[in-house]
Amino acid sequence: MAKNIAIVYHSGFGHTQKLAQYIALGVSQIADVDCCLMSVEQIDWQILADADAIIMGCPTYMGSASAPFKAFMDASSKVWSEQAWQGKLAAGFTNSGGLSGDKLAVLQQIQLFAMQHGMLWVGMPLQPTGTNPDDLNRMGSYMGLMAQSDSAPVEHTPPVGDLKTAEWFGEYIAKTILRWL
Ligand SMILES: Cc1cc2nc3c(=O)[nH]c(=O)nc-3n(C[C@H](O)[C@H](O)[C@H](O)COP(=O)(O)O)c2cc1C
Repeated sequence: MAKNIAIVYHSGFGHTQKLAQYIALGVSQIADVDCCLMSVEQIDWQILADADAIIMGCPTYMGSASAPFKAFMDASSKVWSEQAWQGKLAAGFTNSGGLSGDKLAVLQQIQLFAMQHGMLWVGMPLQPTGTNPDDLNRMGSYMGLMAQSDSAPVEHTPPVGDLKTAEWFGEYIAKTILRWL
């Protein structure tokens, strides 16, 4: 039976959404793993209940998860009280304007959220190939996916290396599902 990944994200201006789309592209490279992209504006709790893994991401706003994503976190408290997501895989991603931008705080926030739900955290063990915009994991992040977007339209940023990193991340999580679940 095919495994299911849900990617839940918020994106105010489209940059984080683009990353989510590339994560989904990576998942689609792996046979027998289906993917559902879900914006926090249109949460389908049944799809999340049926998912084997939930990948969660949002932009870093003021050193924190963006408010609409935090609203999703808070809305999951009923699921939390039943511990209904226990044992699902979880992973996280964030994107911000700064090279650091305090993105780590957001990945930690998402990871802690996943721990409250009893989920199993999957990191991003991808060795950086460098620090240029076309490099893989140029942020050197291992807890989850970090990307950086300039103040430019989504057609130009985040750069190709971050998009390829997102694709790698999706593929890796899909392979991890098949290995562990
Ligand atoms: C309200 C707000 C707060 C922000 N705070 C940060 C921040 O703390 N660190 C940072 O590097 N960038 C910050 N940014 C920049 C965004 O993270 C960046 O523009 C990102 O690409 C937006 O992603 P989106 O298009 O998915 O909304 C902020 C932007 C906004 C609108």
